[in-house]
Amino acid sequence: MSNTTVPSNRLTYWAIVPAAGIGKRMRADCPKQYLSLAGRPILEHTIDRLAQHALISEIVVALASRDPYWDTINLNSISKPVMTTSGGEERCDSVLNGLKAIESQAKDNDWVLVHDAARPCLRVDDIEQLIVQCKDTDGGLLGITVKDTMKEVDDDAFITQTLNRDHIWHALTPQMFRYRALRDALELGIKSGKRITDEAMAMELAGIRPKLVSAHADNIKITQPEDLALAEFYLQQQLDQQQLDQQQLEQQAHDFGNDLLDGG
Ligand code: C5P
Repeated sequence: MSNTTVPSNRLTYWAIVPAAGIGKRMRADCPKQYLSLAGRPILEHTIDRLAQHALISEIVVALASRDPYWDTINLNSISKPVMTTSGGEERCDSVLNGLKAIESQAKDNDWVLVHDAARPCLRVDDIEQLIVQCKDTDGGLLGITVKDTMKEVDDDAFITQTLNRDHIWHALTPQMFRYRALRDALELGIKSGKRITDEAMAMELAGIRPKLVSAHADNIKITQPEDLALAEFYLQQQLDQQQLDQQQLEQQAHDFGNDLLDGG
């Protein structure tokens, strides 16, 4: 028998978490991703959610240089390998560094899911929807449709036009693209000097049309102090729902067992 390892053609799903921001708008003593939420740092919840999806095989976290808080993250309960790398000046630089950190292992066609550190309420079901709905496309992202009427304004906040809200979405994360395409698009976008605010924007500039996949509205980005209480409420709601689903499953299994005993 030969010992040669046969290279696998199976695609890997990587997760990259840009976590090098300081979150100025939170006005907190530490970067917002390290604030405590339901007894755990926000970033720990976020990593945990990504790790829970069966297809995601490794998580790369981009950290600020000399980040003194990373050691507070407890990875014992995280079921997947977690690697860290240094973040960059802007979010897009942090994501690019994450991609570079896996260049020796990632295949060009591997999928990369980029997810904000400050979105700890991400549902595993939504990751699943993103993967299922985008696997035959050039990639896409979670989003939600806007509810309010949307206005475009000038620099002095006077309305220039009312937008057609049927075609406007909030762009959330994860955003999922192929390794090589995303890396090329980010490098090109950064070189262009434009402010690249998400991966989809870099892909758009490269001529790609990412697909938006409808997400649950509880996938909020913690940005302001009041968002913490809301995120805590959503986490509790998700936990309650999980317990209810579990009880229902157990009841169904119990009823099924009784039916069998009754000869039904
Ligand atoms: O500031 P904002 O909430 O838009 O940041 C989105 C994500 O990008 C956060 O997870 C933040 O930590 C990350 N980020 C980063 N590197 C930067 C700036 C932001 O990884 N230079």
